[in-house]
Amino acid sequence: TAARFTLDSAFGIGAVQPRLYGSFVEHLGRCVYTGVYEPGHPAADAAGLRQDVLELVRELGVTTVRYPGGNFVSGYRWEDTVGPREERPVRLDLAWKTTETNEFGLGEFMDFCAKTGMEPMMAVNLGTRGVEEALQLLEYSNHPGGTELSDRRIAHGAKQPYGIRMWCLGNEMDGPWQTGHKTAAEYGRLAAETARAMRMIQPDLELVACGSSASGMPTFAAWEATVLEAAYDQVDYISLHAYYEEIDGDRDSFLASAVDMEHFIESVVATCDHVRARLKTQKRINLSFDEWNVWYQKRPNPHRVEDWQQAPRLLEDVYTVTDAVVFGSLLIALLRHADRVTAASLAQLVNVIAPIMTEPGGPAWRQTTFFPFAQASRYGRGRVLRVEVDSPTYTTARFGEVPLLHATAVTDDETGDVTVFAVNRSQSAALPLEIDLRGVEAHTVVEHLVLADSDPEARNTLDEPDRVTPHAATGTTVAGGVLRAELEPLSWNMIRLS
Ligand code: AHR
Repeated sequence: TAARFTLDSAFGIGAVQPRLYGSFVEHLGRCVYTGVYEPGHPAADAAGLRQDVLELVRELGVTTVRYPGGNFVSGYRWEDTVGPREERPVRLDLAWKTTETNEFGLGEFMDFCAKTGMEPMMAVNLGTRGVEEALQLLEYSNHPGGTELSDRRIAHGAKQPYGIRMWCLGNEMDGPWQTGHKTAAEYGRLAAETARAMRMIQPDLELVACGSSASGMPTFAAWEATVLEAAYDQVDYISLHAYYEEIDGDRDSFLASAVDMEHFIESVVATCDHVRARLKTQKRINLSFDEWNVWYQKRPNPHRVEDWQQAPRLLEDVYTVTDAVVFGSLLIALLRHADRVTAASLAQLVNVIAPIMTEPGGPAWRQTTFFPFAQASRYGRGRVLRVEVDSPTYTTARFGEVPLLHATAVTDDETGDVTVFAVNRSQSAALPLEIDLRGVEAHTVVEHLVLADSDPEARNTLDEPDRVTPHAATGTTVAGGVLRAELEPLSWNMIRLS
């Protein structure tokens, strides 16, 4: 039987905010060093930024970039990272047990943002530090001039203020692994006071409070409620983090990961709105899903490294076609909640659980997960339409009965164009799809691109960087106001209509 849904432009969820297509650069492994930044590489510009990587970042369509962590930010000393390179101190990074040279710092990051057109999303250290250092970093970055800190920035070569709007108030402060880990009450108060002080410098900042580092944390939901009760008036966003992996060979459950992600989002929305009701306020808190991806956390690092190395190979997951299909489904989950998830960051951007890989001194290439992100960022713009799927189901150990089809649709209200993103979760069978187009004007198929492979383990590597790429589907038609397509087994699909 076919999976079906109806599209009607009268039934929308919300506008897709450009920040939904954000990513994340942490001082972790080779994300920065030999990833984004590699002086001496044949493709590096005068600033040491790899132009081959920047080209791929632009093609990926990343809008915002979170920086400098992650767990790294909880020991971050921003002042070590600015000024003459030869004077910057070398430090231990406790989060990843590596050595940080600070050769790439705040100014280099802002240069990277300017050259790629990405908006910076800066994080302040609320692990080992507090209000004072957050204020200093903000003043150094955003104050036009005439104070010691802003003049220091100017002396460092940045005449214009950086104008950073969006700031994360720490990272995963609920996690016992975090340097300076806190209870919800401790963190809620610190986040509120840091935010309040930062707004004294610049009232129009957009501030993100840390939510739970995973929905499975023992303090999940209580953490969000306590933090928001303390900081509700001072912040705009609460963060969500989620990573998925195939566990014990249970691929059927892995393919349904987005069920968990959607449940997580809905639980955080409910928690935010519960606090809103208790505080009797009209203001709504939105969600910043600022870490999401497939990540094989349980697998040992194939490149075992000693502690305190500089830019070792860490978290260099190589993604399969199956991973890309799950990844695409996670993107669909974000889009389906675009009314409240108004910012998101794919963790991370280069080499570290990333869509872009590099070899030191060598090439850069696209992982399988690159393609769903690039397509969604390019065409998943406009307004998300409500999609109520009527689909055959399959049984999973973790989530029970799950629809084989996971889908969303986005319309451009000016042109009437519609783009459908759809995943077939079946490992073995093609899924016929019928979309009733009665409520939209787009009735011509522009293209139907598919990411699928006869080998679900296929991946792109240094030796075979273009092994997996999207291909065009055949036989997708519209007749009598109904679109009919066949979704290949275990596939990510983008169908564009005009
Ligand atoms: O993205 C990798 C790590 O995952 C981040 O540093 C941390 O915030 C999360 O636990």
